[in-house]
Amino acid sequence: MTILAIDTSCDETAAAITKETKVMSNVIWSQASLHAKFGGVVPSLAQRHHEEKIDWVISRAIKKARTGFNEINAIAVTVGPGLAIALEVGIRKAKEFSNKYNLPIIPVNHVEAHLFSPLAISSSLQQEAGLSTLKFPVYGLVVSGGNTLFVLARKFGEYKILAKTSDDALGEALDKGARMLGLGYPGGAVLERFARQGNPLAYKLPIPLSGQEKRMVFSYSGLKTALYRLISKQKEENLDKKIICDLAASYQYTAFQHIYRVIDFYLSSLPEPDASKLFIGGGVTANLEFRKTIRGLCKKHKIKAFFPYSKKLYTDNAAMVGVCAFLREKHLGNSYVNQGLIDRVPNLQLP
Ligand code: KG4
Repeated sequence: MTILAIDTSCDETAAAITKETKVMSNVIWSQASLHAKFGGVVPSLAQRHHEEKIDWVISRAIKKARTGFNEINAIAVTVGPGLAIALEVGIRKAKEFSNKYNLPIIPVNHVEAHLFSPLAISSSLQQEAGLSTLKFPVYGLVVSGGNTLFVLARKFGEYKILAKTSDDALGEALDKGARMLGLGYPGGAVLERFARQGNPLAYKLPIPLSGQEKRMVFSYSGLKTALYRLISKQKEENLDKKIICDLAASYQYTAFQHIYRVIDFYLSSLPEPDASKLFIGGGVTANLEFRKTIRGLCKKHKIKAFFPYSKKLYTDNAAMVGVCAFLREKHLGNSYVNQGLIDRVPNLQLP
């Protein structure tokens, strides 16, 4: 099953060709630098740039995969969650190609795509390498700019939310911390660079909901306020590069410890006996310290951690959308949806 996949959910214009779980090409046009001067994503700007770039990313994805529309069996497109007017661009394009080449469309949930992104494999591997990993039930953790979700997947399409954020997503909290420290946008990656040069124990920031892990919820508002107060205090004295690095390291460390503690509580007290794997996806998985933290947690609970095989699969991309569409068709069937019924769902939740 060869799929042309499209994702325009936020500020990356992305297209990919996937063959079952194999990534034949994964083309991403990032608009991040265009939004940087506004300190965040401007939806109308994102829409305009998706429109300008969508044909280019699709033709490049087809060319890189050395394929053509005669070999493509279906089109997968992200329908949500995401920015409404940005999602529309990808959906419109999917419908246009569906009509032109008589191809069915599979609508895809962006969060579900992040969740199964560790199953994507390089085009040089045997197909079984990806699928042999998938034996339900599995735990899933999505940490991106819009979501922080810890779930139990009983089977494909059936998820029990074990913990989610009550305010900011982890990526969003890192972005805001970076902005407070004057490090620019997008913040997560630059915060990581400064944090690497700092001491994570230099400042004692409050681990969110400490002692209340039983609530199984993530929250970053208190931590952000604590950072804001520290920065204001430091500004009165001195805020040099060393202090910024220490603040970045302490903030990042505390944000990750919060995720660790909530999941640790769950795995210590309420584990699902048959679940022995954790799939982790979303932009924050690009962070080395985060991956180390989660690996440590999984080791403690004798669970195997699975991250995407390539950095291009961490942040928004279309290859994960193609793989997710394939998994949907394989596990549930009937994944093709009549064009007239396909529409954007900006607040789409996991089923
Ligand atoms: O998955 P993604 O591209 O978008 C959503 O689906 O939301 O994730 C974007 C998020 C941003 O908040 C960004 O700051 C964060 O991922 N991110 C990172 C790193 N690279 C991207 N966070 C921490 N460390 C990084 N290296």
